Amino acid sequence: MTIELLSVERLRARRNNKWRYYPEDVLPAWVADMDFAAAPPIRAFMREMADSSDFCYPLKPPYPQLERVLVERMRGRYGWCVDGAPVEVVNDVVQGICIALETLGKRGQGTVVQPPIYGPFLEATRDTQRPAVFNPLIVTEQSYAIDFDQLQSVAAKDVRFLLLCNPHNPSGRVFTRAELERLAQTALRHDLVILCDEIHADLVYPGKEHIPMATLDPEVAARTVTLVSASKAFNTAGLRSALVVFGSESLHRSFSAFPRRLRGGLNAFGAEAMRIAWADCGEWLQEVLTYLQSNRDLVAQAVRQQMPGISYRKPEATYFAWLDCRDLGLGEEPYDFFLRQARVALEPGLNFGPQGAGFARLNFATSKAILSQILERMSDALSSR
Ligand SMILES: Cc1ncc(COP(=O)(O)O)c(C=O)c1O
Repeated sequence: MTIELLSVERLRARRNNKWRYYPEDVLPAWVADMDFAAAPPIRAFMREMADSSDFCYPLKPPYPQLERVLVERMRGRYGWCVDGAPVEVVNDVVQGICIALETLGKRGQGTVVQPPIYGPFLEATRDTQRPAVFNPLIVTEQSYAIDFDQLQSVAAKDVRFLLLCNPHNPSGRVFTRAELERLAQTALRHDLVILCDEIHADLVYPGKEHIPMATLDPEVAARTVTLVSASKAFNTAGLRSALVVFGSESLHRSFSAFPRRLRGGLNAFGAEAMRIAWADCGEWLQEVLTYLQSNRDLVAQAVRQQMPGISYRKPEATYFAWLDCRDLGLGEEPYDFFLRQARVALEPGLNFGPQGAGFARLNFATSKAILSQILERMSDALSSR
């Protein structure tokens, strides 16, 4: 199995948001899709569905085969036993987060988040009126760290949820066991429900290890709701499918009280594509990770050599470069400069909360040919300021 890198022409010919949102002279490096064709087994399945015109109402959950693959995968990769745990299929991770916020706490109760943070976390807390309580990451020379002192004081307020993103978007941090244990201790002390978005778990680079929060110990697991999906690592976000794994029957019962019809119907392709991704596409994923790792290094080299004023702490996971542009004097939203002058669309830093001011996120999951053009355009724009 080899990954297929898509050319600019092929990418532009498709109908997705990443490549259609901006004018044609802009190179998009924003939303979290990869510019690689999906793994061959997933494409074969989609072709088969189309050839047999199987666009009928899909099977209803539960999906025992998918759950079996989930159990095997989580045990095999992460030593996490989810055998017998209640599981729900949802359209997407953010939907699962919103339903959990809605059903597992009361309106007005706070939700601790570690900004800069994936923007829809902030939208979810706002839309469900479980207001975000900020525990900003500390920017260090090499990396990003959790501010545990500040966490103690914010968690003591009227807070119900710890909404964790691990691996963390946009910083690319993979939290260590010691960090997760301290987070869990806080949750236990203040009786918080832990909502753990682990969508980037399969995109961890060598040398780091993803530890599911629910593996720490049974007491922690019992208050944890974990959100997983194949959509980021296998590039199938448009198929709209994710799983919610509950650490206790009572969390599951409350979540399930949310009317199924309000969740919207599941599509016929998503759940099966996720099963195929996890069961049959391991080799493809390994290749993708190796390619992404070398792109991560290419970004580091270009930033170091050609973009003085930008700091870049290499991500431990994900295909995001969280570019610290604060020394460039480009104001709160360097995205504007790069779009206007370089014709490169990054993800605006302020989409990740006020702590994203002066930053921008670059998605480096593309071919080296396209990535080199992106980096060249950015460095040319900076040197001709
Ligand atoms: C941390 C995180 N959670 C969730 C999502 C989106 O997942 P979904 O489309 O399943 O809601 C993303 C997308 O980039 C993400 O980075």
